[in-house]
Amino acid sequence: MLPSKESPMPLLIKNGRIITANDDYYADIYCEVESISRIETDIDSTSLPANTEIIDASGKYVFPGFIDPHVHIHLPFMGSNAIDDHESASKAALVGGTTTLIEMICPGPNDEPIDAFKEWNKLASESSALDYTFHMSVVRFDELAQSQLKDIVREHGIASFKVFLAYKGALNLDDSNLFDLLTMAKKLGVITTAHCENADLIDAMQSKLISERKTGPEWHEPSRPVTVEAEGVHHLCTFAELTGAHIYIVHTSCAPAVQAAVDAKLRGVNVWVEAVAPHLTLDETYAQQADFIGAKYVMSPPLREKCNQDTLWNGLKSGAVSTIGTDHAPFNFVGQKDMGKDAFTQIPNGIPSVQERIDLIHTFGVLTGKISLNTMVSACSTKAAQLFGLYPRKGSISVGADADLVVYDPCCKHTLSVHTSLSKVDYNAYEGWELTGRSSVVTVRGQIQARDGKFVGTVGRGKLLKRKPTHFEVK
Ligand code: URP
Ligand code: ZN
Ligand code: ZN
Repeated sequence: MLPSKESPMPLLIKNGRIITANDDYYADIYCEVESISRIETDIDSTSLPANTEIIDASGKYVFPGFIDPHVHIHLPFMGSNAIDDHESASKAALVGGTTTLIEMICPGPNDEPIDAFKEWNKLASESSALDYTFHMSVVRFDELAQSQLKDIVREHGIASFKVFLAYKGALNLDDSNLFDLLTMAKKLGVITTAHCENADLIDAMQSKLISERKTGPEWHEPSRPVTVEAEGVHHLCTFAELTGAHIYIVHTSCAPAVQAAVDAKLRGVNVWVEAVAPHLTLDETYAQQADFIGAKYVMSPPLREKCNQDTLWNGLKSGAVSTIGTDHAPFNFVGQKDMGKDAFTQIPNGIPSVQERIDLIHTFGVLTGKISLNTMVSACSTKAAQLFGLYPRKGSISVGADADLVVYDPCCKHTLSVHTSLSKVDYNAYEGWELTGRSSVVTVRGQIQARDGKFVGTVGRGKLLKRKPTHFEVK
């Protein structure tokens, strides 16, 4: 019988090793009417309704559903539009163990925020196979925008903003608007996520390199070096220090940027740091590949010198870095990335990895001993739920929580490829990589949506997660 959109059958997950951000123990989990209703050792299946589906999780981990706090699905950007839709991106996320996506709404500078919210939400509600919410990008801050932003928070439950210090003339917000926005965010109790690179410096560096005929993808990193990112982090932290606003630095790529955030934390700034899978696992040499192959690896901030990865992993271990997202931003190599054949400045930025994140982190973080399983769960699920007003409904395995669960086989070996990816993008940045660990069963509110690398669920089942602001006081 196919699962219905509304009422999943009861589900019993037996004999699994339950791993949360803080715990590690063996128990059975019983789910009914979309939620976890019992967590006990040795639940007697004969006492449950006859239609209960039983999953034997012996030898497997059971994680809370993973949350990706930074994805782009609908993204009009750099003269193109990201290639996934909510069906393909959510299917890819689910087979990779991610059960909640937080997507960036990125309107143009002349768009009204409420129209953008409605546009993004309509697209997601039509075809997302998992639950979702949004960070609302603020690219204009006139009176109309201010009042609509307040409505988006209060009426529509979007409790986080996004600002870009980069992308001059397209998405970036100037300093006086930034100060006013953070002042408003503080009053609303809303956290502001931010892309921190200095737009003017990048503009100047890009013009210089292009005028010197340095046009290939290998020049993308030198056009926005680590100092430009660290300056952006320091810049935003100064504004947060003066306004008291809570901030979250997205896709932090390098040691100087992490250091700038840590310095600000020591000054009392309420700042949290996100790392993303590409920066943790790929380095600048990928973007230096000949014959324009490097364009597949152009994202911002750029892939860095490998030594920066140690800082990111150690930051996760120490708590200096809170979360791991993907910054999934899929642009085809043919027809999109190649718009920048003659100038790296025209290559649409982004490296897709919504499907690969969890297995990359398990293979290169946990199995190498860089981070513990608990830290993996915290960084890939729980911390995002806590920071973005979703906890404990999401990000936890507890009675009453949504039954978003991942039964994970830590020994499954598999090879990444564009051919097994459910994203629509025409390349896989990790083609041929051999990973250890894969999601066996993935549930969203009690319904099995993915099994062993295949989507088996219902498209359109995803719901908008309305959130309340939580950033009123120091946590
Ligand atoms: O290169 C990136 N990161 N592309 C997506 C847009 C952004 O800056 O997050
Ligand atoms: Zn960004
Ligand atoms: Zn992004």
